[in-house]
Amino acid sequence: CRFCSNYCTDFFFLSIVFFKQAADLVIQLSSTPKTKPEVSTFGSVFTDHMLTIEWSGTEGWQAPLIKPFGNMSLHPACSSLHYGVQLFEGLKAYRGDDNYLRLFRPMLNMNRMSKSAKRACLPTFDQSEFLECIRRLVEIDQDWVPYSDSAGLYIRPTFISTEPSLGVKKPSHALLYVILCQAGAYFHNEAEALSLWADPKYTRAWKGGTGDCKMGGNYGCSLLAQYEAVDYGCQQVLWLYGEDHQITEAGTMNIFLHWINEDGEEELATPPLDGIILPGVTRQSILELTRKWGEFKVTERYLTMSQLCSALEQQRVREMFGSGTACMICPIGHIVYQGTVSKGSTHPHTHYLSAQ
Ligand SMILES: Cc1ncc(COP(=O)(O)O)c(C=O)c1O
Repeated sequence: CRFCSNYCTDFFFLSIVFFKQAADLVIQLSSTPKTKPEVSTFGSVFTDHMLTIEWSGTEGWQAPLIKPFGNMSLHPACSSLHYGVQLFEGLKAYRGDDNYLRLFRPMLNMNRMSKSAKRACLPTFDQSEFLECIRRLVEIDQDWVPYSDSAGLYIRPTFISTEPSLGVKKPSHALLYVILCQAGAYFHNEAEALSLWADPKYTRAWKGGTGDCKMGGNYGCSLLAQYEAVDYGCQQVLWLYGEDHQITEAGTMNIFLHWINEDGEEELATPPLDGIILPGVTRQSILELTRKWGEFKVTERYLTMSQLCSALEQQRVREMFGSGTACMICPIGHIVYQGTVSKGSTHPHTHYLSAQ
């Protein structure tokens, strides 16, 4: 064992114990269900129930509990609050025309969550068992899934250290929990293409950091840049990296450029997963789908602002869009960079991919 034999032996033992966990689920239904609103904006109205699963180094995983949605009580020294030992996920449940509810590729989220947990030194969990508990939660609150093509139910699994003492160390207590909220429009004016502000003075992620994990710290530290983008009349930040101003992500989305590349080829390009990009589920799905279409070259490659600016000048850009669970596919209208405004173009694939 690389760390301490007790700790790792616990993990191994506990992950076997966890196999039984979905079967141990305890359900306490709310006696005061809320009135469901018309589909609300993203992240503001939560459903009637939540899922919690506690872990401790000495006792392992406890039975999962579905209970009425409500506030939680945390120790004031809790290390998720002090040192950001926490992470989260985001996925959606949709109601199909056949009225069945479907989760979109949830094992990819479980897998990414597991990787984030490893990076945060939080304990391992059984992905399939956890997903089964989430499925039961969604089933209980199924009336909250909108009857809509464009809206869904957003699922927010969260994993926090509840270590009740100060000191930067591996937690001895942790809590997995899941809350659900309706997901209508993510951006206020969804019909319009997004405006981005690109300035290398802020960096979202760096090599060796945690940009490829979904940890809260990555988002809290992006806020100042986000508000500066608004001061420049833009909705989101286009995150750049390095001396050559590599394009990495847009706000909390992966980014795609559909263009005629330097070699005259039609190409759909997105930055590679080199540690500073969040491996988006939507990103992966777009890559798989467009590779299957076989209509143009599909590449994971570095893209710089100077390449983009030349392509825009030479009218080689067909479209740019961001991708993510919350916003799905979002066209990019213009970018403010070094005092100039670069306009994009029409967005045929954005609309087509959104409909897939
Ligand atoms: C920084 C960042 N990039 C990309 C994405 C898109 O990932 P996904 O498609 O899995 O939602 C997200 C969304 O959570 C994100 O926070």
